[in-house]
Order: sequence, then structure tokens, then C-alpha cells
Amino acid sequence: VLTTSALTSQAISGKTLVAIDILRASSTIVTALANGCRAVIPVLTPEEAFELKKRDPDVILGGERKGLRIPGFDKGNSPLEYMSSDIVGRRLVLTTTNGTRLIRKGQEADTLLVGSLLNAQAVAREVLKLKRDTLLACAGTLDRFSLDDFVGAGSIVREIVRFSPDVSLSDIALAAMKVSASGDPVLSLKESFHVRKLMELGFAQDLDYCSRLNLYGVVPRLTEKGIECLEKV
Ligand code: MLT
Repeated sequence: VLTTSALTSQAISGKTLVAIDILRASSTIVTALANGCRAVIPVLTPEEAFELKKRDPDVILGGERKGLRIPGFDKGNSPLEYMSSDIVGRRLVLTTTNGTRLIRKGQEADTLLVGSLLNAQAVAREVLKLKRDTLLACAGTLDRFSLDDFVGAGSIVREIVRFSPDVSLSDIALAAMKVSASGDPVLSLKESFHVRKLMELGFAQDLDYCSRLNLYGVVPRLTEKGIECLEKV
């Protein structure tokens, strides 16, 4: 379990990396793919996104800056916006403050998966199937530690341990697991900085939704075509 700033090429080479941004980028990616989106293309800037739309007008532009939809974009970064039929079969170009940055930074990992509470168990199964050293990478907020991502990582560790009790864990993975097991994830999340920010912006419903455990069996994986859903457990 580590944060975006610790993701050096050396740290990720040959490993499975699970990108975690519970609020809200990884929950949005999981929701979009679970609801029929073809692939999510993570980009760093709105300009990059507009460029892709020029080349393929059928793509959906989604994402946020300061939590809000970017002017000229089709959708924001609320996962609840990615359940409608207009996303089915289409590609989503997504740019968010921390989550898509983490994914781009982690792209040299042997395998990059996207994890959230919504698909914790499915990701845990895939991690075990891949049989490699695994990093659970927490997006945090502008390189600062974020409790919501730590709790999310801990929930994935718990699922891994459930299927493979003898797995070897770092101390920080152990700590994340214990924090996530210490109570209702919704309550743990509610105390975090990012949650208070989202509440101020009126996204309380996102918080409840992103706290739901194992709602989907999808395992988003980064390929040369973007983030695709290759597994549905
Ligand atoms: C991010 O990538 O920083 C987040 O997903 C921000 C958010 O929309 O809450």
C-alpha cells in the first residue's frame, strides 16, 4: 500500500498495481465499465481530452477539476452519471485531479487494475490469480494521504486475505486492513478531508454509493486500448 508520489519505475516494474481513488475516479471507472462503457481512456489534461474528441466525436468526455464538471465536457466525475444507456458501447475519455494521474503514473506496471470498494472482491481474486507482488496504490489528494483510499485499500487486502489467509502482507497493508475492518466503511470515510469537500459540493449521494462493497464483479485493466473490463466475476 503506497501513495502516488512513491510510484517510481523501479517500484512498479514487474508488479501488479491496483490503482485506488475511492472518491471518485476509480468508482467512476468501475461503474462506467459495469454499465456497458467500452473503454476508459485516462488523460492528464482537458486539452488532451478535447484533442481526442476532435479525432473521434463519438467519445464521451468526463471528469472534474475542483470536484466539478469541466466546461465543455459531457459529464463530471460522479459515478452516478455513468449508469445511463448513453455510455453503452462508447469510449469515455476521463481526466480527474488525482485518479487519472495515478493511473498514468502507474502504467508501466506489469498489470494495472482499477480497484474500489464497489469491486473489491473481484479485484482481490484477480490479484491472486496473477500471482505477482502487488502494490495497492492510493491516489490521495494532491500527493497527500487520503483516509478514503487507505480504507479502500484495506478492504481489498481483507478480500485477498479471505481467499488466501497465508498471503504475505507489508505492515502498511496490515494497518490498512485493520483500519478498514474497524467499523462501517461509510463512517470511516465520513471523517476524511475529501469527504467533507464532496459534502460541501453537494455530492453526499456519491459518498453513499462509493462506500458500497462488492456491488460489481468487474475488473478494469489497462490495455493498449485504454482501461477495459476483461473480467466479470
Ligand atoms: C480525483 O481524481 O481527484 C477525484 O476523483 C476527485 C473527485 O472527483 O472527487
